[in-house]
Formats: sequence, structure tokens, C-alpha cells
Amino acid sequence: MCPSIPEELDPLPRLLMGPGPINVDPRVLRAMSMPLLGQFDPQFTGYMNETMGLLRGLFQTQNRWSFLVDGTARAGIEAILVSLIAPGDRVLVPIFGRFGHLLCEIAGRCGADVSFIETEWGTVFAPEAIEEAIKRHRPKLLAVVHGDTSTTMAQPLEEVGAICRRYDVLLYVDSTATLGGMEFAVDRWNIDAASAGLQKCLSGPPGCAPITFNERVERAVLARKHVEAGIRPPGFVPGNGPRIQSNYFDLAMLMDYWSEARLNHHTEATSMLYAARECARIVLREGLDKVFARHALASRAMTAGLEAMGLRLFGDQRHKMANVTGVHIPEGVDGEAVRRMMLEDFGIEIGTSFGPLRGRIWRIGAMGYNCRKQNVLICLAALEAALARAGAKVALGAAVKAAYDVYDRDAGPSRAGA
Ligand SMILES: Cc1ncc(COP(=O)(O)O)c(C=O)c1O
Repeated sequence: MCPSIPEELDPLPRLLMGPGPINVDPRVLRAMSMPLLGQFDPQFTGYMNETMGLLRGLFQTQNRWSFLVDGTARAGIEAILVSLIAPGDRVLVPIFGRFGHLLCEIAGRCGADVSFIETEWGTVFAPEAIEEAIKRHRPKLLAVVHGDTSTTMAQPLEEVGAICRRYDVLLYVDSTATLGGMEFAVDRWNIDAASAGLQKCLSGPPGCAPITFNERVERAVLARKHVEAGIRPPGFVPGNGPRIQSNYFDLAMLMDYWSEARLNHHTEATSMLYAARECARIVLREGLDKVFARHALASRAMTAGLEAMGLRLFGDQRHKMANVTGVHIPEGVDGEAVRRMMLEDFGIEIGTSFGPLRGRIWRIGAMGYNCRKQNVLICLAALEAALARAGAKVALGAAVKAAYDVYDRDAGPSRAGA
């Protein structure tokens, strides 16, 4: 019997104001609909090179090795960790939310001897605490998240890289949720390797992971270089180190693919490369400083609005991510019912949370393409209405006014509508 054929896709319009994914910038969608090229077509390899240059701009680095790993953000994490970690290597992870646990989990699967330090969700680590842990555990690699969307906190990293250099530790940072939304300076902060995703501040769809790494990482990876049979160049001598345990995520082979060697590896995800190129181009055209200021302004407006409504913000506000805001669900309010009302009646998605915060906080994003005054105001107005309908006591009208006040006070004339 023939299976029944569903209707064509026709998703309802939504405003995605959760912790990501967000609405994709229409320019990115347009880029993704461009004709496919063969992966070794000189025009396509030209786009690959341009994308590498744009990623250097986003990561604020001179690293030659700045390219894409196909797959969602965790593909970038896995590629870096599996290529760096040999079984038995000591890895230290400071955990301040769900994604720190993810780094432990992935490092463990790579065979690492993993140690971690933990801080309460909603807080971050003082650099001294990280230094203390490094002295205690003497890791080869410190793996840490920059902005952990599960708690909406951002770990200050300015001093962490220098600490790692002092103890000859490699530093990997997951910047999935902050790249293009908050300052993230790979070279200035002495970060050895970093990865990200498109679906947050870069306004793209999930599906490829920008990564970057320096010569320290390159040396460690090349020591483990093994090229698969069938494409192995004559006379190739493998590295002395243990073979990287993943073929797909083998950075040594990916380097050959993204360099002038153009040694065949996977088939590049053409449309995702177009997307990443456009995402990075859009951010850099606006300018990093302006982009960061736009996110910071939306954060001030959103938090002012939520507090004016009578809600309590979650976590240590000195370390809040600019692009996501955590807010306590008021006592006696069914958080899921409010989220459902937001989605079904207003077409707006906001996030719930995980683990110890499940049912306790909502997470509201204003990032990338969605990080605009109109969306902050619309989201606050809808939340206020949904809360009032759910029986919560809210100061009607106060949230939008407070957010307006922030924009009136802080938005320069050129950014009035930002
Ligand atoms: C900080 C952080 N790291 C990693 C991930 C995993 O990304 P993905 O779901 O794209 O694999 C996320 C996703 O929300 C994230 O916020």
C-alpha cells in the first residue's frame, strides 16, 4: 500500500525568542538557495577561503586554521576534543551549567581522564578558582564554555588564557552561544581552540560549526596525523601519536581538505557553507563593536522590562550573557502554560530550562537577527499579557515602558530602531 503523502511543509510564522535557534536572517536563507557547485570547483574553493577569512574576523584571530565542521555546534566541540585528546590525557572542565557537563561527557568518550570543578548554576568561576584547580589536577587541556545558555551566565575568560599558558595547559572554549553577540577575542585572550554554531547570534540555521585553532593545537594534532587509505599521498609518513579516534572529526584530515592540498575528505555541505559565509559577512559588515552594543542594549531593555513587570532575574547579573536572559517563573504560575500561551496565542517561543532549573526559570533570547527593539517590546508585551491571563500579579504596562525608556536613553540616533 502507498504511504499517505503529507501536505507540503508550511510552518507557522514564529518569533523565536528562546535560547536558540532563532529566526534565520532572510539574507542567509537566500544564500542557502544559491545553486550548488562541485566542491573542488575553483569558485567554491574560493568561497571556502573567503569563509575562512570571515571566520578569523568573527573569532578575532590570525589563526590560519579557521574553518567549518559540518554538523551542529557539538560537531565542532567533538572535532576539537577528539583530535586533541588521546586516551589517558588529563582534561579539566569548570562546570557552571549543562554545557560544561557536555564537555565532560565528550572528553570522557575520547578516553580522557576528566576532572571537573563545579559552581552553583547562576554563578561563574573566579580566575583564581580555575588556577587552583589547574595546580591540583595538572591537565593537558582546560575545556570551558563561554556563555552557558542553560544558566544564561558568561564565564569571564580574559585572565584564563594567561593562566593556562603559565601552566602549559591548552585552552579550548565553547563559544556556541556568544560568538557574534558578546566580545570573544581568541588571540587577545590566549585561547588555543574555540568552536561555535550558527543558530544563535550568527542568525543562521543549525548545521555547521565554525572552529578556530592555533599552532599549539596544530602541532598536537599533526603529531597524530593518519591519512585514510585510498587518498593517502605517496610517501606520506604518519605522526607518532595515537590515531585520532574519529574519521569524520579528524582535524588533521580536515586541515588537508581546507588547505591548498585540497585532499578529499567528506563532501562539503555546500548550502551550509553559503549560510556560514553570509552569517559571518552580515555580522562583520555591521561591525563587531556595533553588534555587541546592540546585544548589550537589548539585554538592558529586556531586563528592565522584566523587572518592571515585577519578575525576578535569575543568576549573578554581573555575569549575565548579553543575548539571553534568565528570569524566575513567579510562585504559583504554571511556567509551561505561560509558554504555551506565548506560542499559541502570540506565535512567540521562549525557553524553559534544564536540570536543576527546569520549571524554575524561563530563558528569553534577543540575539542576532532577532535582537531588535521591536522584538524586545513585542516579547515583553506578550509575556505580560500571558502572565496576567495566567492569574499572576503583574504591573500592567510597566514592562514596555521600562524597555522604551532604556532605548530612549541609550540608543544613539543611528541605532534608534536597533
Ligand atoms: C553553549 C552551548 N554549547 C553547545 C551547544 C550544542 O549545540 P548543538 O545543539 O548545535 O549541537 C549549545 C546549544 O544550545 C550551547 O548553547
